[in-house]
Amino acid sequence: MDDTPVITIDGPSGAGKGTVAQKLALTLGFHLLDSGAVYRAAALQALNCGADLNSEKSVMAAISDMDATFQPHPDGVQVMLGGIDVTPQLRLETTGNAASKVAVMARVRESVLDEQRSFRQPPGLVADGRDMGTVVFPDARLKVFLSASVEVRALRRAKQLKDKGIEVTIESLLQEIGARDDRDSTREHSPLVAAPDAFIIDSSDLSISDVVTQILAVIPQVTVAE
Ligand code: C5P
Repeated sequence: MDDTPVITIDGPSGAGKGTVAQKLALTLGFHLLDSGAVYRAAALQALNCGADLNSEKSVMAAISDMDATFQPHPDGVQVMLGGIDVTPQLRLETTGNAASKVAVMARVRESVLDEQRSFRQPPGLVADGRDMGTVVFPDARLKVFLSASVEVRALRRAKQLKDKGIEVTIESLLQEIGARDDRDSTREHSPLVAAPDAFIIDSSDLSISDVVTQILAVIPQVTVAE
């Protein structure tokens, strides 16, 4: 039994999990696992190898000898694939969509479990994703499920993209986010659901710091290993 404390933050894309997890990890001095980056790296590797994203066999053949490293970075995580920095490609919308396709595959999920669990190091870990509290760290000290309405998430994403000089229509984002939610929530393996013991926060009308404050208020008991 590993008693290194883990705080999990699960929820749909665009609910603010990544930023909240980063701020919490910084405040608590904990390590950070952006599990979406692990699926994004697997998807990039599959794409780079020309794998068929609808075939588990083809994706597994592409990622079985994947050489990926994940390093903390001021913007979250820096990812190297085969020694090449792929961080910019990782954040692309196309990579996120490809990630949600390979993430439905049971063997893909199984193959990244050890990588994700290896982030659990003293003094503690904040892990964000879809199944952190339900599957990867079921014994987490605190499980948070962070959601927001699809409209609010699309608006936030549009703003993020605009800040990067990319113009998109809200309609196309609503469609993409809706399709990704659907795929993540209805898949057979590790679907996106709140753990029964999760603390649920709807961030639609909350700022990132409001969310962090709410979480910090319920975790004084988890900040030190027993
Ligand atoms: O969180 P992010 O948008 O980076 O995740 C990309 C995709 O990876 C998600 O849409 C989801 O399909 C998949 N994912 C997952 N389980 C996780 C994290 C991400 O299935 N723990």
